[in-house]
Amino acid sequence: MLKLSKIHIHYGKIEALKGISLELNQGEIVSLIGANGAGKSTALMAISGIIRPSKGHIEFEGKRIDSISPDAVVRLGISQVPEGRRIFPRLTVKENLSLGAYLRKDRTENDLEHIFGIFPILKERLNQTGGTLSGGEQQMLAIGRALMGRPRLLLLDEPSLGLAPIFVNKIFEVIQEINREGVSVLLVEQNAHLALQVSHRGYILETGRVVNHDESHRLLDNEEVREAYLG
Ligand SMILES: Nc1ncnc2c1ncn2[C@@H]1O[C@H](COP(=O)(O)OP(=O)(O)OP(=O)(O)O)[C@@H](O)[C@H]1O
Ligand SMILES: [Mg+2]
Repeated sequence: MLKLSKIHIHYGKIEALKGISLELNQGEIVSLIGANGAGKSTALMAISGIIRPSKGHIEFEGKRIDSISPDAVVRLGISQVPEGRRIFPRLTVKENLSLGAYLRKDRTENDLEHIFGIFPILKERLNQTGGTLSGGEQQMLAIGRALMGRPRLLLLDEPSLGLAPIFVNKIFEVIQEINREGVSVLLVEQNAHLALQVSHRGYILETGRVVNHDESHRLLDNEEVREAYLG
C-alpha cells in the first residue's frame, strides 16, 4: 500500500533521513520507533507531502506521491495526526471534527456518529472549545478529526505523548479498533513496548537510518532491541 524507497531528507545542511526504505501492506499497523531526533516525524511529514525528499521516492497504491501537495495526499486517503495534537483551540469540538471532512464531498452526520462511537467523550463535549479539553481529550479529538477524512492510511505521530496511563491504554485500544475497521496505520511512538504490542511489524530508526525491521513479536523478543528500546 505504501512504499518508501531510499528517501533522503535535508533540512539545510542537516540530513535527517539518510536513505530510508519502508513498506506497509494494506491492513497492517506498522510502528516506527527510535530515539529523539532519529527522524520519525520527518518520515511522516515526507509521506504527507509537507516536506520533500531530496532523493528517493514514495508510492501509495502504486502512485508516486513524493511531489504532490499535502491536500492531494489527503484526497488520496492518507491522514496525519501530527505530534502535539494540533487542534484548533478556539473552535468547538464539532467545528474541529467538521474541518477534518472539508476535502470530502460526501460528508454526512453519520460520520460524526461513527466518531462518537469510538470516542463517546467527544459527544459530551461537542460544543466546548478545543482548548478547554484535557490533553487526552484533545488527542482523541485530533484522531477523530483525522478519521473524519475517512482515510485508508492513518499516520499517527506520538499519540500517547504526555498522557496518563488510562488515556494511553484507551488510545492504543482505539488504534486497534480503527485498524479492525480496515484502516492501515503507521504509528510513531516513544512507547516502543506498547507500539510493538499493537503492531504487526516494526521499523527501528537510528539517526536517519533503518537499523532493523521485523515482525513486532520478533522485535519484542530480540535481546539487542530490548536493551536499547524496551528498557
Ligand atoms: N525544521 C527543521 N530544521 C532543521 N532541522 C530539523 C528540522 N526538523 C527536524 N530537524 C532535525 O532533524 C532530525 C530528525 O528530527 P525528527 O523531528 O524527525 O525526529 P523524531 O524522531 O521525530 O524525534 P522526536 O522523538 O524527538 O519527536 C533532528 O536532528 C532534528 O533536529
Ligand atoms: Mg517526532
